[in-house]
Amino acid sequence: MAKKTVHGATQSSVLSPQSSSGKTVVITGASSGIGRAAALEFARRGANVVIAARRGELLDEIARLCRDRGVSCTTIVADVSNRTDCKRLIDSAGRIDILVNNAGFAIFEAIENAKPEDLEEMMRTNYFGAVWCTQAALPAMLARREGTIVNVASIAGMMGYARMGGYCATKFAMIGFSEALRDEVIDRGVRVAMVCPGTVDTNFFVKAERGKMPGASRLILAIKPERVAKAICNSAEDGRYRRILPLGAAVYMRLKEFSPRLAHLLMRRVSALLEKG
Ligand SMILES: NC(=O)c1ccc[n+]([C@@H]2O[C@H](COP(=O)([O-])OP(=O)(O)OC[C@H]3O[C@@H](n4cnc5c(N)ncnc54)[C@H](OP(=O)(O)O)[C@@H]3O)[C@@H](O)[C@H]2O)c1
Repeated sequence: MAKKTVHGATQSSVLSPQSSSGKTVVITGASSGIGRAAALEFARRGANVVIAARRGELLDEIARLCRDRGVSCTTIVADVSNRTDCKRLIDSAGRIDILVNNAGFAIFEAIENAKPEDLEEMMRTNYFGAVWCTQAALPAMLARREGTIVNVASIAGMMGYARMGGYCATKFAMIGFSEALRDEVIDRGVRVAMVCPGTVDTNFFVKAERGKMPGASRLILAIKPERVAKAICNSAEDGRYRRILPLGAAVYMRLKEFSPRLAHLLMRRVSALLEKG
């Protein structure tokens, strides 16, 4: 039987799986990689999609592919590092059932050499972009007592990696924000889920230099964006707290949670060996 919470929402409505068919999904960073694949996967599952990014011409192509799957698709050109753009994006999307905060990028550099403007831009895009979109979408979801927010974080938000500190900080911030928000809203009908991928084969690595990642972190092979897209859609449907993928990354994160000292020691030692040889 459905259990009433203090705020009046039923636990079952929050926790039971909900098909994304017929729902409206907003996806940021949908012009490429994981966001693009998520738009196509949601469309395949019958959801109407609103796709956002800065490159409108890429969005138009993806919109055509989504519409070919029989759903409606709206494109909105927006820069998520700009709070006004985030508000405009959310307001023009209409009723939002699912918000996927996915836009992001990385520039890998040792802290001592990192450019302050790169550190700020990563934080504005990866973290504040998600915060501004969430703040704009949340009031309507809370008023309706339904809605799901899926934040695309990273295993770089669960463990710090050498030369990736600026990027890791944005994803640690996103995870802290997501956990706090989940506790604030779960009893009021709104679900918050996180997807934490390891390395994914996308254009992300046009800006982020793969060679700067610690050698040991490169041992787990890159996965395809379509696999992450399925995890995002599944999280939107079942509201699961967190998905980490692939399995090798999930196992390493277990080790990190169990013994951070050992996980970091292994990462340093194995990376040093691999980087030498
Ligand atoms: N690839 C990986 O190994 C990996 C691993 C873990 C997590 N992630 C996370 O997954 C997410 C998607 O990355 P990806 O791998 O799919 O990379 P990608 O192929 O480079 O796609 C990044 C997307 O973010 C958008 N974007 C970047 N800055 C933006 C801004 N200021 N405003 C609006 N949109 C912006 C880009 O669109 P425009 O340039 O058109 O604006 C693009 O659509 C990111 O949050 C990333 O941190 C990636």
